Amino acid sequence: MPRIRAATITDVPAIHDLLETYASKGNLLPRSMNEIYRHLRDFFVIEVNGQIAAIGALEIFTEDLGEVRSLVVADAYERRGLGRQMVERIVTEARQIGLRRLMALTYVPAFFHKLGFQTVGIDTLPEKVWGVCVKCYKYNNCDETAVVLELR
Ligand SMILES: CC(C)(COP(=O)(O)OP(=O)(O)OC[C@H]1O[C@@H](n2cnc3c(N)ncnc32)[C@H](O)[C@@H]1OP(=O)(O)O)[C@@H](O)C(=O)NCCC(=O)NCCS
Repeated sequence: MPRIRAATITDVPAIHDLLETYASKGNLLPRSMNEIYRHLRDFFVIEVNGQIAAIGALEIFTEDLGEVRSLVVADAYERRGLGRQMVERIVTEARQIGLRRLMALTYVPAFFHKLGFQTVGIDTLPEKVWGVCVKCYKYNNCDETAVVLELR
């Protein structure tokens, strides 16, 4: 398995480019360079042959709830287990921190179901809705599925 590691400052342009590529396809939200710098400590990366092949972040809302954010496996590396490796790393981190639940908003609930997450109503996640969704351009017509993993 390729090595997974915490992101470093020199990874920011590659993280930004991957997010831009998938945001323009509508898969996930874009994030500015500035936002990535501010949240860099949330990010993990998987490198394959010196290239960033996958990224993912753990964002914390409350003592109760964290989120898998900005999860991308580059096209060329899909379906090789990197997405699973990334989410499992984030789950381990969330457990170590002591979070009770981990959520994601996604267009690929089937991938998260494979990793033990269950689909829930977005109304069960007020921290996400009031912290992030209210600022999102899709707020009134969000078409993503909310999934949750109970950690304890
Ligand atoms: C979704 C994504 C992260 C999956 O990563 P991946 O590395 O291809 O997935 P893995 O190879 O680790 O797959 C793990 C399991 O999920 C399944 N799976 C992967 N993608 C799937 C999909 N789109 N639909 C259904 N199941 C899927 C795999 O078959 C595998 O199942 P198995 O363990 O029974 O063999 C990746 O396709 C991606 O980055 N997509 C574009 C961005 C995106 O949508 N990100 C999610 C934002 S929340």
